[in-house]
Amino acid sequence: MLMNSEPLIICENLVKIYRLDQDNGASIEVQALQGLDITVADGEMIGIVGASGSGKSTLLNILGGLDRPTGGHALVGRQDLGNLNERALDEYRLHKVGFVWQQATRNLIPYLTALENVELPLTLSGQVGKSNSERALELLELVGLRERMNHRIEELSGGEQQRVAVAIALANRPKLLLADEPTGELDTATAKSIYDLFRVLNKQLGLTIVIVSHDLGIAQYVDRVVAVRDGKLASETLRVQKSDSEEHHLVELAVLDSAGRLQIPREYLEQFHIKRRVQMEITDEGILIRPPEGNHHSHDHSLSSSEQEPVEDEALQVPSGWSKIWQSFKSRFARGGNK
Ligand SMILES: Nc1ncnc2c1ncn2[C@@H]1O[C@H](COP(=O)(O)OP(=O)(O)O)[C@@H](O)[C@H]1O
Ligand SMILES: [Mg+2]
Repeated sequence: MLMNSEPLIICENLVKIYRLDQDNGASIEVQALQGLDITVADGEMIGIVGASGSGKSTLLNILGGLDRPTGGHALVGRQDLGNLNERALDEYRLHKVGFVWQQATRNLIPYLTALENVELPLTLSGQVGKSNSERALELLELVGLRERMNHRIEELSGGEQQRVAVAIALANRPKLLLADEPTGELDTATAKSIYDLFRVLNKQLGLTIVIVSHDLGIAQYVDRVVAVRDGKLASETLRVQKSDSEEHHLVELAVLDSAGRLQIPREYLEQFHIKRRVQMEITDEGILIRPPEGNHHSHDHSLSSSEQEPVEDEALQVPSGWSKIWQSFKSRFARGGNK
């Protein structure tokens, strides 16, 4: 795929805190994004995965101008969304970005036809030039629904409804399409057809597409998958072409944040009985992270007795998964740090 060198999206140390007011007058804070860094190339089609509550929708809503960051930066095409005033943000939402939700019907009117549904936002936003019905037809053609244009939304299948929603999202000719679990209510085959449609739009229009999903299977349809955990970027899965063939395989790499911090998967920590502190060693291959020496007779009173589990004495073998993380360290250092 063709990508311009300047990224379309740059999020730096993005923070979103929701404040929930309690009945007793107090309020609690939910940190939906905790300093998230992500860069998306112009023309890229990227998947964002993560458990429920990890902050995926929050990120998408900020990128879509539907919500504002509490801290950090979210730049789309050089515009820092956090610094835009209400009017500029409205303008951004109307003209720069398209949004598709899990419930296709969220922005569809069930008793109107597909064509009428696509025409409506064109009319409302006062588009000039080509007649709105011609443009609506063109959009329906683009999403492969021309022959169903006179069917009412309620007569269309879930996949067809989602196509209408995509056509509407493209009405304002955005550079960026954001999709929040667009296949969440579709069967596997229909989901695939929607991903295929996204790929066609990505190629034909040079559209940058960010798709949130809780389905790791999305990896086969996008250029890159990033995983969000607890409001931060945790890992990236890249498609790597094998040197001797056309074949690709997927490689998952841990991601450093802008301060050089790394999230270590919980399973790894448990496997090596790592609690609060680790020892880091430089080895020929990279950086070795292991439990502190003498973990089993620790004098650290801050550890509870349940944390003082016995650890084997001999140096621990590193599981194969770590070699991938070393690769990422190595390549980053070779490029002169992570900036
Ligand atoms: N409008 C809101 N008000 C309060 N808390 C919210 C709001 N939106 C999201 N949250 C909280 O922020 C966290 C991240 O939510 P969300 O971005 O929806 O996650 P995901 O889309 O990955 O499931 C969750 O703990 C959620 O409860
Ligand atoms: Mg969500």
